[in-house]
Amino acid sequence: MSKEPKGKLTIRTVAMPADTNPAGDIFGGWVLSQMDVAGSVAAVERVHGRVATVAIEAMSFIAPVKVGDVLCVYCEIERVGTTSITVRMEAWVRRRFEPDRVKVTEGRFIYVALGEDGKKARIPAA
Ligand SMILES: CC(C)(COP(=O)(O)OP(=O)(O)OC[C@H]1O[C@@H](n2cnc3c(N)ncnc32)[C@H](O)[C@@H]1OP(=O)(O)O)[C@@H](O)C(=O)NCCC(=O)NCCS
Repeated sequence: MSKEPKGKLTIRTVAMPADTNPAGDIFGGWVLSQMDVAGSVAAVERVHGRVATVAIEAMSFIAPVKVGDVLCVYCEIERVGTTSITVRMEAWVRRRFEPDRVKVTEGRFIYVALGEDGKKARIPAA
């Protein structure tokens, strides 16, 4: 497995005790929502307007996230369609008091550009 994250660091946050599952690790839905937020930041930067998540095309949980981990989400735009934009992302953590980064997830989320009326809108050329 690659030792280096691919993509641009888009968000960085700390996993808190309130985000745990009954086993004491971080709830997968919390990690997924951080990825969704990061992907939307990447999509908005490219689209220069509102976006909505339309699909999660791929999502893999590779290693657990623990309380106190610093979660970093890296994004790259994989494809720009007429109104949709596909963002490939991966999340890595730095465990508390440990120097190495660990890859915990990867995914591919699709966003649709929206106009002010809330309907899909054509994405302008870069
Ligand atoms: C996003 C939304 C406005 C799209 O409207 P629509 O008229 O149904 O759009 P279309 O079916 O024509 O698809 C628009 C684009 O999204 C893509 N798309 C739609 N559904 C998709 C899916 N399940 N997987 C991959 N791509 C999809 C289409 O291929 C198209 O891409 P393109 O224009 O680049 O070719 C509408 O589906 C919506 O409001 N969804 C809810 C979004 C939301 O609330 N998200 C938050 C989740 S809580």
